[in-house]
Amino acid sequence: MSDAAAPARVRPDGVHPFPHRHLTGIYGLHPHEIAFLLDEAEQWVALNRGAAKKHDDRLAGLTLINAFFENSTRTLLSFEIAGKRLGADVVNMMVAASSVKKGETLIDTAMTLNAMRADMIVIRHDASGAVQLIADKVDCPVLNAGDGRHEHPTQALLDALTIRRRKGRIAGLTVAICGDVLHSRVARSNILALTALGAEVRVVGPPTLLPAAIEQMGVARFTDFDAGLDGADVVMMLRLQRERMEGGFVPSSREYHTLYGLTPERLKRAAPDALVMHPGPMTRGVEIASSVADDLDRSAVTEQVEMGVAVRMACLDVLTRARRGVGGW
Ligand code: CP
Repeated sequence: MSDAAAPARVRPDGVHPFPHRHLTGIYGLHPHEIAFLLDEAEQWVALNRGAAKKHDDRLAGLTLINAFFENSTRTLLSFEIAGKRLGADVVNMMVAASSVKKGETLIDTAMTLNAMRADMIVIRHDASGAVQLIADKVDCPVLNAGDGRHEHPTQALLDALTIRRRKGRIAGLTVAICGDVLHSRVARSNILALTALGAEVRVVGPPTLLPAAIEQMGVARFTDFDAGLDGADVVMMLRLQRERMEGGFVPSSREYHTLYGLTPERLKRAAPDALVMHPGPMTRGVEIASSVADDLDRSAVTEQVEMGVAVRMACLDVLTRARRGVGGW
């Protein structure tokens, strides 16, 4: 698809539909801006399913640097694939083999990437706020691929796109986000995106894994899993983020599964056509039973991964429009 055939860059009223330089979070985005990114992603879904996947070169000549200071499978690979499918030169910084290991600061690393004249930088870091810190220092768009417990905006966008495609809408749906909400940037970004788009969001989990005052985000809080699932249209499961836990938040994985694991029996509490989601990586037998995760009629897990590539293509495209002289912030 050529740029000329792509969707409109500027609304008829002259307002730019996405007037942001970076994507550091869902916080601060208007509902129409979130919907705009989802609409932009739609064009890539069908094209990505075709035999020839590199069908566009709108990012030709631009350099995308992926700097992941935390492990990743889905996000790193999908940003790499997204960049390559749009014709960008993609460089993955090998953090384990980089000068970070010699004590270089995050700011110095960011300034080094900036000096190499990156056109887009995608960052994952274990510190909440690290991505904004870099965004404030560099000259190019920065995309948050997950920072600490703070936000994982492209995950929320791909989840919203998955829900919208499977259910035909988001407004009015009841979405239960279940498990380790306390440590989850995925939960935080999803709460922001789904409430902005008109869903009724519940958070469900043991009291130790639900943030204090989470209701202030406009969600309902449930510590009883069955009650939280009651009639839900979407059940989004989260793994226990043990890498962020200091001390015992749950007695044992076995007991956790008994109380908060999604099994076929438990799923009967939700709406008969409830969609099951999980951002991955899943811990089978703990927060989700394999029979649920692999139930193709109910589980959208692989579709979420697929939507991730389309959403990241849309984000890279939209955020670089100003650099490419085709509109933008
Ligand atoms: N959902 C998600 O962020 O997965 P990865 O950690 O594999 O990127």
